[in-house]
Amino acid sequence: MRIISVSNVKGGVGKTTTAAVLSAGLVAEGYRVLMVDSDPQTNLTMCFMQEQPDNTPSLYHVYAEGKEIDDVKVAVKDGLDLVIGDFELCNADMQFLKAGRLKILRKAFENIKSDYDFAVIDTPPNLGILSLNAFLVSKYIIVPMAADSFSLKGIRLLKQTLDEVQDEAESVISIAGLLLTKYNDRTNVAKLLEKSIQSAAELLETKVFSSRIRQATVLQESQIAKIDLLEYAPKAPVTGDYKEFIRELLIRIGGGSHGKN
Ligand SMILES: Nc1ncnc2c1ncn2[C@@H]1O[C@H](COP(=O)(O)OP(=O)(O)OP(=O)(O)O)[C@@H](O)[C@H]1O
Ligand SMILES: [Mg+2]
Repeated sequence: MRIISVSNVKGGVGKTTTAAVLSAGLVAEGYRVLMVDSDPQTNLTMCFMQEQPDNTPSLYHVYAEGKEIDDVKVAVKDGLDLVIGDFELCNADMQFLKAGRLKILRKAFENIKSDYDFAVIDTPPNLGILSLNAFLVSKYIIVPMAADSFSLKGIRLLKQTLDEVQDEAESVISIAGLLLTKYNDRTNVAKLLEKSIQSAAELLETKVFSSRIRQATVLQESQIAKIDLLEYAPKAPVTGDYKEFIRELLIRIGGGSHGKN
């Protein structure tokens, strides 16, 4: 199983959207995928289901009670499972940031490594305990960036944090790439930022994905309808952008091996 976190401290850049579409796209390619909603805003969960009643097994129970993924996951559709997010994790930093609490997620993943080909973890727009736990279990990080809310400082902080936790990680955490989202080729915004985007990639010792995700309202529509983008709008140009991105990602991280872990 390859574990991928989607991260950027900047909010609203398309982390959750990318996590949702990437997961559904990998399932469409025949992979078995686990999604983990590691953001207390629970937006990833809400892309697929209604808000859950209190005490529904969730990521909170992994943190608070040491539950394993198997105890809390729910099936979204064939080949796609989800560990739902939980508002209770809003104060996770205060509750769980004690010595040794950076490997909760890694422990929870221990017994499921052969159950999935990929796990995709959506992270919150900060570098608190939920993000650190996600990094320490991940092999790859995808960093979405929106042309209209670009922050080099945020990228620098992410790099610094990854360098600091690297020693604690099982293997090298690699940035699979920067993904430009909410792209609009009729404006010059992305062009004007081209140099900053390249600097960000150099800082993270990675590359910008050549696939760019255009700005498209159909993404929001699919999220409101709670139907993944590939099913909701299979022919939309933005669906094509995401499919291209997934192809590029699989080439970059070597994804041709169905069923292997
Ligand atoms: N390519 C796009 N075109 C248009 N709207 C988009 C696009 N990608 C995401 N959005 C919308 O922008 C908003 C923010 O996206 P998303 O929730 O994925 O960002 P995020 O980085 O996860 O935010 P947060 O930091 O709050 O978790 C959502 O309403 C989403 O539907
Ligand atoms: Mg989000």
